[in-house]
Amino acid sequence: MTSTIVSGMRPTGRLHLGHYHGVLKNWVRLQDTHECYYFVADWHALTTHYENPRDTGGFSWDLLAEWLAAGVDPDRSVLFIQSWVPQHAELALLLGMMAPLSWLERVPSFKDQQEQLRERDLATYGFLGYPLLMTADILLYGADQVPVGADQVAHLEISRELARRFNSFYGRTPADAGRREAGLRQMGRREARAYGHLLQRFQEQGDLLALEEAEVLLKDAAGLDSGTRELLLAHLAGKGRSILREPEALLAEAARMPGLDGRKMSKSYGNTIGLRESPDSVRKKLLTMPTDPDRRGRKDPGNPEKCPVWPFHQVYSGPETRAWVMEGCRTAGIGCVDCKNALADRVLEDQAPIRERAEYWAGQPEKLREIAWNGARRARLRAEETMEQVRSAMGLDAAVHP
Ligand code: TRP
Ligand code: SF4
Repeated sequence: MTSTIVSGMRPTGRLHLGHYHGVLKNWVRLQDTHECYYFVADWHALTTHYENPRDTGGFSWDLLAEWLAAGVDPDRSVLFIQSWVPQHAELALLLGMMAPLSWLERVPSFKDQQEQLRERDLATYGFLGYPLLMTADILLYGADQVPVGADQVAHLEISRELARRFNSFYGRTPADAGRREAGLRQMGRREARAYGHLLQRFQEQGDLLALEEAEVLLKDAAGLDSGTRELLLAHLAGKGRSILREPEALLAEAARMPGLDGRKMSKSYGNTIGLRESPDSVRKKLLTMPTDPDRRGRKDPGNPEKCPVWPFHQVYSGPETRAWVMEGCRTAGIGCVDCKNALADRVLEDQAPIRERAEYWAGQPEKLREIAWNGARRARLRAEETMEQVRSAMGLDAAVHP
């Protein structure tokens, strides 16, 4: 089976270099080896920003432009906006019917975010149900791997548990039971009785040999089609038919991209460099970064390990420049301005083409709309396949009505 990736980003602002190094470069790389679905999680943004939906709408287009600028490729990956694919809402609704409240309440981010975003009222149904929407996003595409940050791992655990719960409820349909009984009749009475004994041995005593014997029994049984044989075997092994695939977290070994003050780069710390920030502003921010506090003057030696500028060099500079910094800083051979200018040259060299491409895409709303439209069309086709199975497993398809 091909490996499928799903990942989303909330449109709550412009992207910065932390997103680029921590997330987007990984997305771009995954396109070579996986079938990728990348979407703008605009409904997710509403779980916390429901008061200003217009804002998130604008950011959706910024986000798409920035993804394209970073190298996410609409010909190889499916790029779309979540709210354009209504199946996400349908599956989230159905999952909500069987999601235990306790699972949602114990998600760490539920309490944390409520504390952190005190200015917002997050005692809402939508916010509590956020992991259900995320689960729907993933399960709709049969994703087996989900690139996420460490903060999302708990959500993914819920996704796995919900997939399992769904499969155990609805995996075995009444139609399957009918086919199983028909199969047993076809096998003949002796074989059917042998099957019953093996089932008991396996289910009550966990006897693995019984499973093997059953395989042989079913293989030799006359008149069974392969579907019925599989059904009988799965039933004996206590497995439901798997309708929704259990996803796994794919933790990127992303370059740790620090912010200007040494803490994690994050909008809420105000320590970011924007993907589309002007060269002047980028250089100015880098030149005013704090340094090793022991280097009070040009003549005082310093230690890069104690300086927030150093991790930037580790991400951006080649071995020669890094050696020059190490040596020059420790012997006071170079000044901090030299060190920072060398860094700024590299950052700007790297950022310039991305900034230019992002500006280009931001100026092409028609093209962006077309990409989003095509992506949504492809996403809907795949999502609808899953929904047909889901509806049928839950008895919601037209076939069961008179
Ligand atoms: N919850 C993710 C975040 O806040 C965004 C997201 C929504 C997502 N649905 C997803 C990520 C599905 C991966 C897969 O960053
Ligand atoms: Fe930091 Fe560079 Fe100054 Fe050393 S020379 S303290 S690494 S900015």
